[in-house]
Amino acid sequence: MKLVGLVGWRGMVGSVLMQRMQDEGDFNHIEPVFFTTSNAGGKAPAMAKNETVLKDAADITELSKCEIIISCQGGDYTSEVFPKLRASGWNGYWIDAASTLRMKDDAVIVLDPVNLDVIKDAMVKGVKNYVGGNCTVSCMLMGLGGLFQHKLVDWMTSMTYQAASGGGAQHMRELLTQFGTINSAVKPLLDNPAAAILEIDRGVLAVQHGMSADETRQFGVPLAGNLIPWIDKDLGNGQSKEEWKAGAETNKILGRGEGFGTTPSEARAIPVDGLCVRIGAMRCHSQALTIKLNKDVPLDEINDIIASNNQWVKLVPNTREDSMHHLTPAAVTGTLTIPVGRVRKMSMGGEYLSAFTVGDQLLWGAAEPLRRMLRIILD
Ligand code: HSE
Repeated sequence: MKLVGLVGWRGMVGSVLMQRMQDEGDFNHIEPVFFTTSNAGGKAPAMAKNETVLKDAADITELSKCEIIISCQGGDYTSEVFPKLRASGWNGYWIDAASTLRMKDDAVIVLDPVNLDVIKDAMVKGVKNYVGGNCTVSCMLMGLGGLFQHKLVDWMTSMTYQAASGGGAQHMRELLTQFGTINSAVKPLLDNPAAAILEIDRGVLAVQHGMSADETRQFGVPLAGNLIPWIDKDLGNGQSKEEWKAGAETNKILGRGEGFGTTPSEARAIPVDGLCVRIGAMRCHSQALTIKLNKDVPLDEINDIIASNNQWVKLVPNTREDSMHHLTPAAVTGTLTIPVGRVRKMSMGGEYLSAFTVGDQLLWGAAEPLRRMLRIILD
C-alpha cells in the first residue's frame, strides 16, 4: 500500500476530509502517515495502521518517505514546505487544499466530475501537483458543468452569497456570537408583543454599530444581520481576488484559455465574472448566475443538460415551494448534493439564462475533490 502523508487533518477542512475518507473506505487502500505542526511524537488518530506516532510536518526526510501527501494545513505551510520538499528531489504526488499552487503551470486544479480528462492528461504528462479549486468555483462547476461540457456558455456572471466558513472556523464562531449578542440585547423587547418593531430595529443597529474590535476580529465589521460585499484581497482594479478566481480558475479547471487549452479550439477563455458577497450562512456558498448562451436552446433541453451532468447535481423545479425547500444552505449543508434551480430564460432574450445554485463549501468546495484525486492516483 502506498504511504500517504496527511497534513492539517485536524483543522476544519481536514476534519471533513478525514470523515469523508472514513465514510468512503479510503483508509483501506492506503498506509496513512499523520503529520503535525505542533505535536510531533503524539499519538496518531485511530485510522493509523503501522505509523501510530505523529510525525513533524516540517521534517523533509519524513515527508519524503510518502508517495502521496495531502495537505489541508493552509497556504503558509505550502509556501514554506513544498519548495523545500521538491528541492530535496521528492517526486511524489502533492494534493493540496490551499490556493498557493493553483495557478502554477505545473499544477492542475482538481474537480474530476468536471475535468477528469484534464487530470488524466496531466498524469500522463507526469504532473505531480494537484490542487483543490476555490470553493465557489468548484460548487458552480459541479452544478453548471453540463452547460460548459456542451460548449453552450458564451459568458457568465456569478453573484455570490458566501458562508462564514469560507473564512475559517473562527469566522463561524464570530458570526454565531454576534447573532447571540444582538438577540440578547433586544430580547426583552422581542418577548413583549406590544413592543414596536422599529424600536427593536434601533436596538439591533445600536449593537451592530457598537461592536468592539474583539467582536469583529475575523470579519472586520459585523456580519450578523449584515452582509459584506468584498471577499479576499483588493486587486486594485476594482475587483476582489475572489472575483478574479471565478474566471481564472473556471478556465483552468476546464483546460481552456491561454496556457491551459488542450486543443486550439479550446484556447478562448470563457469570461466569468461577478461580485462576491459574504453573508451570514454557516457553510454553504450560494450563487446567482446569469449565463449568456451562445445559442437559444430550449429550456427543457437545458434542464436535461444540467441534470444529467453528474450524479450529485439536482435540478430543482423553478417554483416557489421547491426553491424555498431545496435550494437553500440549510437544505444542502452536510450533503454532496448540488441543487441548481431558478433556471429560466431572462427577459433580455432566449440566449440569457438565470440559475441559482448552492453547495457545501467544505465538501465539494474543499475536501471531496482532494480525496477523489487520491483515489484516482491509487486506481
Ligand atoms: N475564498 C473562499 C471564501 C474560501 O472566502 O469563501 C474557499 O475557497
